[in-house]
Amino acid sequence: MSARLRLLTLTSAVAALAVLTGCEWLTFSNEAQTTMVPMTDLGRSTDSVYWLVIYITAGIFVVVQGMLMYAMWRFKETSPDDIPEQVHGNLQMEIGWTLLPVIILVVISVPTVKGIWAAQPDTAEMEAAGEVVTIKVVGKQWWFAFQYPDYDDIVIGNEIHVPAGKQVHLELHTGDVLHSFWIPRLGGKRDLIPGKVNHIWFKADMPPEGQDSITLLGQCAELCGDSHALMRMQAVVHTPEDFDRWVNGYKASAAQSSDPLAAAGQQTFLSAGCIACHSTDPTNAQAYLAPNLSHFGSRTHLAADRLDNTPENLSAWLHNPQALKPGATMPNLNLNDQQVEALVAYLHSLK
Ligand code: CUA
Repeated sequence: MSARLRLLTLTSAVAALAVLTGCEWLTFSNEAQTTMVPMTDLGRSTDSVYWLVIYITAGIFVVVQGMLMYAMWRFKETSPDDIPEQVHGNLQMEIGWTLLPVIILVVISVPTVKGIWAAQPDTAEMEAAGEVVTIKVVGKQWWFAFQYPDYDDIVIGNEIHVPAGKQVHLELHTGDVLHSFWIPRLGGKRDLIPGKVNHIWFKADMPPEGQDSITLLGQCAELCGDSHALMRMQAVVHTPEDFDRWVNGYKASAAQSSDPLAAAGQQTFLSAGCIACHSTDPTNAQAYLAPNLSHFGSRTHLAADRLDNTPENLSAWLHNPQALKPGATMPNLNLNDQQVEALVAYLHSLK
């Protein structure tokens, strides 16, 4: 291979890698869905095992490739009549290459098993003392509900809020099929299994200096039907004070808007069928039928993080949910333009 061709191959490989990873892995931005910038004790524990394995395997790769290169160079054919020295087994080497992998696996298993134990702390005492924030997570086709039993049972859809520095306990349920809860920077990808409750425990780090909170992205990681790829969510990690502020703000009902269009939208909300599944009462889980819409005007995204929460997107969603999220259980209510416009004004007035 000519030097120029080799350079071209190498640059193409690096470019392909950058494209495939969306450059996220290379830049480690805050928005990246990466496990490599962990923000919790749980994430760091998994990450440390990951790096240990990477270092060991990288070392093995270098040694094996080095020996291969050396053998290729040292024992290359000099004449067609040359026959290599004929050997039949070597007991010492047999023992060596059996024992070495065993030792390596034992070395890797120690932090792995320790990490598994540490990921399942016994928090019963702490919970009894009120030192744990328990959040009930329910996966649905295709959105997530988060309920806070310790905070008047407030419910929010697709946005999980947690305080930094406090033990958090997620109770993972599903309302229908198998889903998987995964916010990479929080660590721990875990299935939501019908008929079973799974758990994740973690303690999140403080948001970056000078910030009250940081938003992390996540999504369902188990194929669960038509819109699995659109089942996204956000995690907001707050400072403890900011978390209390958020809870108190969320608990309080949104102020009534004086806008007549919003008032008309509220009437539509009550009469067109929306309240059969949705609620604007922050503590009304409605049996997890549909995302709770309290303070919807303050949300940055809609339709399980599918779209930015703009009037245009909300209007398109209300006109035809299935067009934006195939298979969505929200029916097309065949609302007319006036009804949609009023509903958009009403929902965006809920702050
Ligand atoms: Cu839920 Cu994939």
